[in-house]
Amino acid sequence: MQELLQLLNKISDELNTDLNLKRMLQRITSLTVTHLNATGGSVILFDEKHCVSDYILQHNNLDETEAEAIVGRVLSEGFAGWVMRHGKGDIIVDTITDERWITYSNQPYQARSVMAAPIRRHDKILGIITINHATKPDFFHSNDLSLLNAIAGQAAIALENARLFRQQEQERAMLSAIINSSQDAIIVTDHRQQRVLFANPAAESALGMEPGAWQNRPLAEVSSVPKLIEQISNAATGDKGLELPDGRSMLTSVVEIPDVGTLTLLHDISALKTLDKMKSEFITTFTHDLSAPLAAIKGHVELVKMDGSLNARQQEDLDTISKAVNQMHRLITDLLELTRLESLKDFFTCDISLEEMVKNAYRTFKPIASAKNIDLQYELAAPNAVTHGNPTLISRAIDNLVENAIKYTEPAGMVSLSLHQNGDEATVSVRDTGIGIDAASIPLVFEKFYRAHTPDQDEVPGSGLGLSIVKTIVERHGGKIWVDSREHEGTTFTIALPIVNNN
Ligand SMILES: Nc1ncnc2c1ncn2[C@@H]1O[C@H](COP(=O)(O)OP(=O)(O)OP(=O)(O)O)[C@@H](O)[C@H]1O
Ligand SMILES: [Mg+2]
Repeated sequence: MQELLQLLNKISDELNTDLNLKRMLQRITSLTVTHLNATGGSVILFDEKHCVSDYILQHNNLDETEAEAIVGRVLSEGFAGWVMRHGKGDIIVDTITDERWITYSNQPYQARSVMAAPIRRHDKILGIITINHATKPDFFHSNDLSLLNAIAGQAAIALENARLFRQQEQERAMLSAIINSSQDAIIVTDHRQQRVLFANPAAESALGMEPGAWQNRPLAEVSSVPKLIEQISNAATGDKGLELPDGRSMLTSVVEIPDVGTLTLLHDISALKTLDKMKSEFITTFTHDLSAPLAAIKGHVELVKMDGSLNARQQEDLDTISKAVNQMHRLITDLLELTRLESLKDFFTCDISLEEMVKNAYRTFKPIASAKNIDLQYELAAPNAVTHGNPTLISRAIDNLVENAIKYTEPAGMVSLSLHQNGDEATVSVRDTGIGIDAASIPLVFEKFYRAHTPDQDEVPGSGLGLSIVKTIVERHGGKIWVDSREHEGTTFTIALPIVNNN
C-alpha cells in the first residue's frame, strides 16, 4: 500500500512538471508502461463534445489520416470503445480469443495481453488509457487494473490542470491583445510608492515613457505629467480632465484594484473638444449674424407704426411681429450667453453677500409680481452667508429662477425666496404655488431648449434655455441645483453654493 502511494505520488509529480498536452500524454503512457512492466500503450482524449481531441498511439509513424481512421475504429468496434461505453476499465487476458480486440492491417506491433481504463474526472470521461504486453497472455491481473485506474485518476487531475492553464493562458493572451491595442492609455501603479506595474503602448506614448523602461519605477520618475500623479494618489478627486504635454485632452478614470494598486484609464477626448469648440463658434457666428436682420425688422416695425395711422387689424399684426421678434432676440441672447458661459475660462470673482443677491432679485421682480397679482416674499435665515464668485452671474441665476416662478404661477399665487445655511453650503430656494412640473419632465428641465408645459404653455414665451444657464452658472461656482415639484401645487428650485469662511 505504502509502495503504491509512493508510486502514485511520483507519477503525479512527474505529470505536473510540464503542462504541454502532447508531452503530457506521452509521459502518461510511458510512465504507465514502465510501472506496469508492459511493452506498449496508447492514450486517446475526448473534448467537451465527446469528440476525439488528441491521442498518442503506440505506433507513431502513421500519417494523420491513417491514425485518425485507427482511433475511430478502436472507439467504435474495439476495446477502447468498450471501456468508454461501459465507463469502467477491464483486462483482455488473451487478444487471440477476445473479440473486443481488433487488429488492423499492417499493425506493426504485437499485443497479446491488454488492459484499459477510463481517465475520468467528476463523472466525465476525459479519455482512455490502454497498455499491453506484446507476447505474454494473461499478463495483467486485477491489482494491475487497480493501479491503472489510480494512474488514470492522477492523469485526469494533471489533464484538468493543463486544460485550466491553457484556458488561462488564452484568456491572458486575449486580454493582453485587447489592452495593448487599445487607443486608451491604461496604467497600473502600486498603492504605496506609485510604482508603475503596467502601462500599455498608448500609455507609454501619452506619458512620454520609454517603452518597457518603466517597470517597477515610481510614476513621478517616468512620467512628466504631475497632474496625473496627483489624480492617481487622490483617486477621489473630482477633476477628471487632464491636458497632456502634447496638447491632447484626456478624460481620466481611476479604479482601485484590491491588493494590487490603482488602474488609471485615460480616454482621448481631443476630437470631442474640437467638435465642441466648433459648435460653440458656429452658434456664436450664427446668432451674431442673426442679430442684425432682427434689429432691422424691429426698427421697420416701429417705422411702419410712425408712418401713419393704422387700422386695428394692422396694429394687431404688427404687435404679433414685434412679439415674435422679441422672442427671437431673447433666444439669441440666451444662446450667446450659454456658449459664452461654457467656454469662459476665467471670470471676475469676489466675495458675494447672498443676502444682497436675494434682496436685489426681490426688488427687481416685485413690480412684475404685483402686476400679475402674485405675492412675492423673502426670508433670510442665514443673512451673513457669503459665497465667492461673479456677482452678475449669481444674480442672473437667481433672477432666472424668480422669473420662472412668476411666469409659471397663476395670479393670486405666491412666490417666496429664502436663504439658508447648511453646513459649509448656503442654499437659495425659490418656491412657488404655481402649475408645477410633471414627474417625467423633472429630470429634463435643465436640458437646453426643454420646455415642460407645451403646448398649453405656448402662451408663455420662453426658449427653454433659462434653467440650462442657471445650472451652468451654479456648476461653474462649484455648486448644485435641484428641483422639487408637484403638478398643480407648486415648485421649489434650490441652488447650493459653497460658503466662504471669513474667520
Ligand atoms: N417654477 C416653475 N414652475 C413650473 N414649471 C417650471 C418652472 N420653472 C421652469 N419650469 C419648466 O421648465 C421649463 C424650462 O425652464 P427654462 O427656464 O429653462 O425655460 P423657459 O422658462 O421655458 O424659457 P427661458 O429660456 O425664456 O427661460 C419651462 O419651460 C417650464 O416648463
Ligand atoms: Mg425660464
